[in-house]
Amino acid sequence: MKVTPAVLVSCICLFGAAAALPLRRRQGAISSGCSLNIVAHEDDDLLFIKWVLRAGLRGSVPPDIFNDIQAGRCTRTVFITAGDNNRGETYWMGREAGTRAAYSTMPNVTDAWATTTAVIGGTNVRVQTLNNTVPSSSLQKLYQGKISTIQTVDGSNTFTKAELTALLTGIIVDYAPNLIRAQDFTGTFGNGDHSDHLSASFFVRDAAQGFTGVDYTITSYMQYATSARPINLSGAELDSKTNAWDAYTAFDSLTCGSPPNCTGKDYAIWIPRRYTTSSTDVKAGTA
Ligand SMILES: *[C@@H]1O[C@H](CO)[C@@H](O)[C@H](O)[C@H]1NC(C)=O
Ligand SMILES: *[C@@H]1O[C@H](CO)[C@@H](O)[C@H](O)[C@H]1NC(C)=O
Ligand SMILES: *[C@@H]1O[C@H](CO)[C@@H](O)[C@H](O)[C@H]1NC(C)=O
Ligand SMILES: *[C@@H]1O[C@H](CO)[C@@H](O)[C@H](O)[C@H]1NC(C)=O
Repeated sequence: MKVTPAVLVSCICLFGAAAALPLRRRQGAISSGCSLNIVAHEDDDLLFIKWVLRAGLRGSVPPDIFNDIQAGRCTRTVFITAGDNNRGETYWMGREAGTRAAYSTMPNVTDAWATTTAVIGGTNVRVQTLNNTVPSSSLQKLYQGKISTIQTVDGSNTFTKAELTALLTGIIVDYAPNLIRAQDFTGTFGNGDHSDHLSASFFVRDAAQGFTGVDYTITSYMQYATSARPINLSGAELDSKTNAWDAYTAFDSLTCGSPPNCTGKDYAIWIPRRYTTSSTDVKAGTA
């Protein structure tokens, strides 16, 4: 979601992309381990991470969310903000509905969603909404220590930087993934990327330091800067990403509308591109 100034922090929502899959993780081998994707907004995974078919690619190209689900691997996506953009609940709840619609475009995936509450370190995680009435609340300010706390949109929770980091660590430890996908933590504030994207990625990078249980890979994905890169999605890869995006955009009035028409918008540039910026293997027991 391209919005300036920064979208305010709002909520954390957990989506188990397929309810049955976590069970598979617990029974499965490490080689088919789980992945955890943590992004700022409801459309960031769709635009910048998700829908790349692997098409025989190996090694340097990590399997993406689409492939994980198709392959029966467990995957979970966390949105650190509600993506409320200073609008009300109808808007950001709509974005959540868009995410569910997008995930449900995948072949052989049943559109059946169960909403549950995960208790991570004593915190209920289904909706950690940060209150958008706090005028200066932003992930960047929290990350940089310019504000000491940030509140959920329903006022039910307040987080310090350390508490939000600890919550994310708790989410990671709880899921024990072998692959964590994040937004681009190789960037710096002011580099042209959305401050929420950067803040979310820094929080994830920091939070992962507290996760030492299993071997894992942490991969970061390029965001707006993909615009300057060559198109690298086509054919089935592009079709599946477009299909998912079109399902989402019907629910997010600030994107391409319904029927979808991204002509002249940045979305049209981002959709046929997908780049990673780093990928690091971390051994269990190290940080
Ligand atoms: C979906 O399931 C059908 C029937 O089992 C199978 O032939 C097809 O390859 C599957 N498609 C994908 C993308 O997994
Ligand atoms: C934000 O929090 C304040 C104080 O807790 C509360 O009065 C207000 O209703 C909340 N706003 C929203 C949008 O939930
Ligand atoms: C899509 O949007 C562009 C730019 O606003 C506009 O010129 C075009 O007519 C639209 N196409 C349709 C089918 O509405
Ligand atoms: C761009 O996408 C293609 C197709 O998935 C992939 O092979 C390539 O590795 C991507 N480039 C980067 C730098 O991630």
